[in-house]
Amino acid sequence: MVNIAIFASGAGSNAEKIIQYFKGNKAINIGLIVCNKPGAGVLDIAANHGIDTLLIEKLRFSSPESYLAELKSHHINFIVLAGFLWKMPASIVEVYPQRIINIHPALLPNYGGKGMYGMRVHQAVLAAGEKESGITIHYVNEHYDEGNIIFQAKCTIEAGDTPEILAQKVHVLEHKYFPEVIGQLIMGN
Ligand code: GAR
Repeated sequence: MVNIAIFASGAGSNAEKIIQYFKGNKAINIGLIVCNKPGAGVLDIAANHGIDTLLIEKLRFSSPESYLAELKSHHINFIVLAGFLWKMPASIVEVYPQRIINIHPALLPNYGGKGMYGMRVHQAVLAAGEKESGITIHYVNEHYDEGNIIFQAKCTIEAGDTPEILAQKVHVLEHKYFPEVIGQLIMGN
């Protein structure tokens, strides 16, 4: 059994799609939701699905020893970042080599790095006059958005698209592909 912890900071629409996709799966279980923001929507989603949550504030996040034990007690052996905005501490990356993946709402290596998250990404893509954007699912290392790329999918940008419209297009791709790619990655290993 692979037990996944989903790390998420926000609304959690990706987390919810992943939870729904693996409901009842005998090989893959969502064991824990880790969140850094009290009141984040993803906490309600976890509660609705009866999934344990772990809220980690900034100071504690940078000294992972204190919560690694909680990941272990939930038998977590794979980590999925779904809208999580902090850089993973090196000691977590060491404990989960090639077992942490992230989704980024653009076509890396462009429009990634520190400060590039959510609507900021879409604003930057539109400001540069790009004709397409998309999603990137990649392994996580100790640098923002630099781990090996696992999967990308593209969407077209039309004249007049706003950051909100682009965000919607990207969310459609994320919701369709992220659960599938997680399943293929885990079952293929
Ligand atoms: C997603 O679009 C995800 O790609 C992005 O945050 C959004 C979270 O939405 N992640 C980043 O920008 C990471 N750099 P959600 O909370 O509805 O899943």
